[in-house]
Amino acid sequence: MLVIEHLSKQLGVTRAIDNLSLRIEQGEIFGLLGPNGAGKTTLIRLIMGLLLPDAGSIRLFGQYAPGTTPVRQLIGYMPQALAVYPGLSVRENLLFFGHIYRLPNIELQHRIQEILAMVELSHKQDNLVSTLSGGMVRRVMLATALVHRPKLLILDEPTAGIDPLLRIRFWDWFDHMVQEGTSIIVTTHSLSEASRCGTVVFLRNGTLLEQGTPRALMDKYASPDLEAAFVAATTTHVPEHAREISQ
Ligand SMILES: Nc1ncnc2c1ncn2[C@@H]1O[C@H](COP(=O)(O)OP(=O)(O)O)[C@@H](O)[C@H]1O
Ligand SMILES: [Mg+2]
Repeated sequence: MLVIEHLSKQLGVTRAIDNLSLRIEQGEIFGLLGPNGAGKTTLIRLIMGLLLPDAGSIRLFGQYAPGTTPVRQLIGYMPQALAVYPGLSVRENLLFFGHIYRLPNIELQHRIQEILAMVELSHKQDNLVSTLSGGMVRRVMLATALVHRPKLLILDEPTAGIDPLLRIRFWDWFDHMVQEGTSIIVTTHSLSEASRCGTVVFLRNGTLLEQGTPRALMDKYASPDLEAAFVAATTTHVPEHAREISQ
């Protein structure tokens, strides 16, 4: 579904993505894990076509490049920052995003009710987004990313700053969407959430340290949880320049 080869991107003085190669298959939840500054958002913006790479290539769905219209139609994107209109109601926000994707009106009305039921916001559909709690706003953002039934959903820290119970509900919805045929790429720096992913990658300083199932990575580093595996992976993979300095 997604093939990335030798991707690099410099932002200011930082090499945010550094010669990164990655393959992602369809039909699962794929977790991009890494601490703040690891390059998760930059990688997602490159996949979305919102940034252009300095080097390397990204291919989506076998034939399309990021940013082109066919790809936009196939992807739902929930950015890290606020991306809904506070001055519109919940339903108006969904109508707005649905119209961008040129959905026929009757289908759109039906789809909006279906998604609002899933994110448990049907009773708030006529309320202004500015009057909602933080957790509800995150649910509206998820709903807007889903309105056009994307085949691939890209979520940048969707559960940042929301309470533990709602966090679990989000992951239940992700499982439900995967069962319905959607693939999901999700970033998080919560390693406990990551154990619910089918495959995870560890990212640090714009490079890929590891890729595998949570179980395989815990086994590889003989770690009781993913957090310990991540720490072990970062100490095992010493960057080239650091190795030279220490010699
Ligand atoms: N617009 C920018 N200008 C300069 N540096 C940036 C910019 N955006 C991000 N960076 C830097 O690139 C690195 C990766 O950032 P980011 O992709 O946002 O990481 P993450 O999402 O994993 O927290 C960080 O060191 C960050 O400071
Ligand atoms: Mg980020």
